Amino acid sequence: MQHMAVMHKTTTLLLLLISSSLVRCTEQGVSQESKDAEEDSKWFSGAPEMQDLAHLSWEYVHELQCWLWPEKCDEMKMERADWSWKSFGWNALADLYTTVTSLTDPTQGTVLNNLTGLQWDLEQRVHGQHLAVKQILSSVKRFLQEDESKKSQVLSFHGWTGTGKNLAVRVIAENLYQNGLRNRCTKVFIPQLHFPHQSHMEAYKVQLGKQITQISSHCAQPMFVFDEADKLPAALLEPLLPIFKGDHQTRSILIFLSGIGSKTINEITLNFWHAGRHREVITLNDLEEPLKAAVEHHGDQLIAWQLLKEGLIDDFVLFLPLERSHVKMCARDVFAAQGLPYTESSLEKILQELVFVPKNERVFSAHGCKHVAQRIYSMKP
Ligand SMILES: *[C@@H]1O[C@H](CO)[C@@H](O)[C@H](O)[C@H]1NC(C)=O
Repeated sequence: MQHMAVMHKTTTLLLLLISSSLVRCTEQGVSQESKDAEEDSKWFSGAPEMQDLAHLSWEYVHELQCWLWPEKCDEMKMERADWSWKSFGWNALADLYTTVTSLTDPTQGTVLNNLTGLQWDLEQRVHGQHLAVKQILSSVKRFLQEDESKKSQVLSFHGWTGTGKNLAVRVIAENLYQNGLRNRCTKVFIPQLHFPHQSHMEAYKVQLGKQITQISSHCAQPMFVFDEADKLPAALLEPLLPIFKGDHQTRSILIFLSGIGSKTINEITLNFWHAGRHREVITLNDLEEPLKAAVEHHGDQLIAWQLLKEGLIDDFVLFLPLERSHVKMCARDVFAAQGLPYTESSLEKILQELVFVPKNERVFSAHGCKHVAQRIYSMKP
């Protein structure tokens, strides 16, 4: 729980910073508590969406924690009461990320670029994804070793929930940067946390541009990850353009994650299964065109469409739906990582609790490997 302690410390620190600035505005003679409440209401007044955010954000900050401390993600049962959300504005939430990242990473921006480790880890940890593993390796290798004049490498990850997109990002980060996603040169953006309201898009554009400039000023090889890119409006492409144009003296890696096209990927994978063909014979050729069609169909208001149209995507990375044997490997990994003993029957027991689809065939795990860790923790005595 060491990380949690840091989180708490950070929260406390932020709360102190925020509340101390509030205290400065308060008059004497009135109880601090009621003054704080009053200041809070001022803080939120005129911005009702901020109030929504105060409620909404809990979930996404938890998600953010899962990115930064995956090993703690499922076992964390933090109470909302631990966090005084009322004291947080949007900026504070976004800053929390930066603060946490810098506090927990004493090595700051060390770049590793360990391609041997990347290959090993992808092959050992990302189960059932022969295509994605191959794509990521060749894409990253090409970028790091071959064309040095290229300013950025853009990967677009597509796949159903729990199929390993987040895990693959983590594996990339851990092998290219010391401390992975906690390195100050890597940054994950979560739309619901960083860009929650359409009406504030102009402000988000400025904010995003600033953050990218800032990270690019002290990192030669920044990595920007956009989670749930199917919720990212096309307007946010603008602050990214300097990266592609090479305005910063950097070589950046950009990864967009989304579920766009996952229905198509799933259907094609199921067709192979029906035809009795092994999933490992599926090639990028089988999937790329249907996927592009799905992105186009998804609409021009979204960044995915814009990236495709502008020809900015270097590689599509496709994640297939996971079968029982893959989920079993995920479960085994969780047991092993926790140092817990397991047997064939305990693995089977986990599988029995998961939902498999489609209804008749029950071939694919409905949530991939998501929730597997949670089920294992809940089994603990
Ligand atoms: C790269 O990763 C491999 C596998 O994790 C590890 O054995 C090796 O020491 C790493 N190399 C460097 C230079 O860190």
